[in-house]
Amino acid sequence: MRYHHAVSGPTTAVAALRWGEGLELLDQRLLPGRERWLGVAGVPDAVRAIRSLTVRGAPAIGLTAAYALAAEARRDPDLGRLRRAARRLAAARPTAADLAHAVAAVMAAIEAAPAAERFAAALAAARRRHAADAGACLAIGRHGAALFDRPETALLTHCNAGALATGGIGTALGIVRTLHAEGRLVRLWACEARPVLQGARLTAWEAMRDGILVTLLADSAAASLLASGAVGGVVVGADRIAADGAVANKVGTYSLALAAARHRVPFVVAAPTTTFDLACPSGREIPIEQRDGEEVRRVRRTAVAPAAVAVYNPAFDVTPPELVTAIVSERGVARPVTAATVREIA
Ligand code: MRU
Repeated sequence: MRYHHAVSGPTTAVAALRWGEGLELLDQRLLPGRERWLGVAGVPDAVRAIRSLTVRGAPAIGLTAAYALAAEARRDPDLGRLRRAARRLAAARPTAADLAHAVAAVMAAIEAAPAAERFAAALAAARRRHAADAGACLAIGRHGAALFDRPETALLTHCNAGALATGGIGTALGIVRTLHAEGRLVRLWACEARPVLQGARLTAWEAMRDGILVTLLADSAAASLLASGAVGGVVVGADRIAADGAVANKVGTYSLALAAARHRVPFVVAAPTTTFDLACPSGREIPIEQRDGEEVRRVRRTAVAPAAVAVYNPAFDVTPPELVTAIVSERGVARPVTAATVREIA
């Protein structure tokens, strides 16, 4: 029998972004091979970084946009220019709700400030959002870990909903880190998440960095793993949650939810309130980003398909609410997932 470690709460040695003299991003395209921090001078740099997946994960791209607007306001506080920059930033990737929410919040702070104070107001708004996101991750971790009441649990995750995707310990990985800190996590199973391999490159790396026992699997191995009984729960993040509880998340999430339902494994979605979009009635209205076919034709630089082959490459898919056991936000748990329970935690 294992005993709960009497340790302090969950922590991480990993961060996706920081503000010192200005905004810096950990270049996630280079992980796990190299750790390089990139400076972001303003909105054009941030748009490129978000589109190229230098920074990715719904909360992290929202925070990047927030700080990038501050950097832009420092360069030139002209309101018309900042409004145009904000529109470009909000359109950098279409699916994650956090991006548009963050841009709107920082622009509200900028609009309310006189020209000389726009930079300070924007930076304060970005810092507030960053701190709120870190706090949300901790609360999500607590609420989510309480759903798993066994002394030992193995969890399966998809893509990366960790410290690299947020301003804190992560959402799905916030639950993982909380169980780990409580001494109740026996193993994290990480799907690799083709085509861009956020699970293999990022989740495996950040789990190992924090001393979490992690086993990587090809996405195609997940259904048989779920059938084997080795997994106590699936935990994933979200890019946008519609009013009916439909969840857009990394492509492959829907197939995991189908397999989890078939084998009666709890399927838990973890996301801060900044990811909810109650103005979006259902999954049908969530815009799904289609990405360049080169991501599928290649594994990193290596061609794995004929150069001219047509490719289907949606970045995300939508899991219907009936396949989701629970949604966890910093405000609590929606279970069962209905429009009414989602509204209470949004
Ligand atoms: O294309 P990505 O890497 O930005 O996709 C990320 C995901 O799908 C995450 O699961 C989601 O953004 C939640 S991150 C806390």
